[in-house]
Amino acid sequence: MGEVLAFIANKGGVGKTTIVVESVSALHLAYPDKKVLIIDGDAQGNSAVAFNKDPNKFENTLYDCVVKDLPAKDAIVNLKPNLDLLPGNQDLNYFELDVLPNLRGRNPLEFFKKIVNQVKGEYDFVFFDSPPELKTVGLNIINSADYLYIPFVPEKFAVKGIVAVLDIVNQAKKRLGAHAKVDGVIANMMKPSTKLHSNYLLQADIFCKRNGIRLLNTRIPNTIRFADSIAKFGMPHVLADPKSDHSKIYFNLLKEMLDHGTRL
Ligand SMILES: Nc1ncnc2c1ncn2[C@@H]1O[C@H](COP(=O)(O)OP(=O)(O)OP(=O)(O)O)[C@@H](O)[C@H]1O
Ligand SMILES: [Mg+2]
Repeated sequence: MGEVLAFIANKGGVGKTTIVVESVSALHLAYPDKKVLIIDGDAQGNSAVAFNKDPNKFENTLYDCVVKDLPAKDAIVNLKPNLDLLPGNQDLNYFELDVLPNLRGRNPLEFFKKIVNQVKGEYDFVFFDSPPELKTVGLNIINSADYLYIPFVPEKFAVKGIVAVLDIVNQAKKRLGAHAKVDGVIANMMKPSTKLHSNYLLQADIFCKRNGIRLLNTRIPNTIRFADSIAKFGMPHVLADPKSDHSKIYFNLLKEMLDHGTRL
């Protein structure tokens, strides 16, 4: 049974998609025999864009699986050997409008779980990219995941943002029976030379220690390398330049995530 890792936040632009595509690329290179699926749960479809695909040109997407009961395997596309994508695109914006009035007794927060259960046995790892807010789609993702990661940028209100996500996750556990473990908070877009960033990181560190949550040791620096690789080479940086110092960061992050804190 594959592990389902989801990357969530209650805001946009904190690096969810970049972390998904770069760590999946690291996994692809470090463990080429492992079967990996990315599920793009975001209507922006940026996971596909990172692999040079137009999200609005797929014949079928996650939306068709959810709303039209299409089997997941009929929407999954292959990106590389042992690396697949269940794409998402702007159709997902209509999830609530199309599904909520036609529930016929189904739980609106368990649609994605059913899709994940179809494919979990076929993959070693499933990586979920998420939208910038935790509403119906976000709750569906939390409800499908085994492990949750919360990226944040060390700036004003960052801890507040983490608290808000943790509250939603805790409520999802209590009210929906979600079983996901918050496996890590990830400091992203760090400017280490900036005192302000270091202070906000320290605040996050104190908060995490007090609440028994893992702040991953790997700190992702602020760099245009990741955006640059996608724009120039149509692929994540780790695939474009696996031996670079920036790629090393993602190999380290991956190792920490797959440990699930057992070696701490
Ligand atoms: N470490 C980094 N340093 C600087 N820029 C970064 C870094 N990681 C990602 N970015 C850039 O920041 C922007 C937002 O990143 P990304 O799209 O991964 O965030 P997101 O959380 O998925 O956003 P959304 O919620 O809108 O989907 C992108 O332009 C991306 O290239
Ligand atoms: Mg994104």
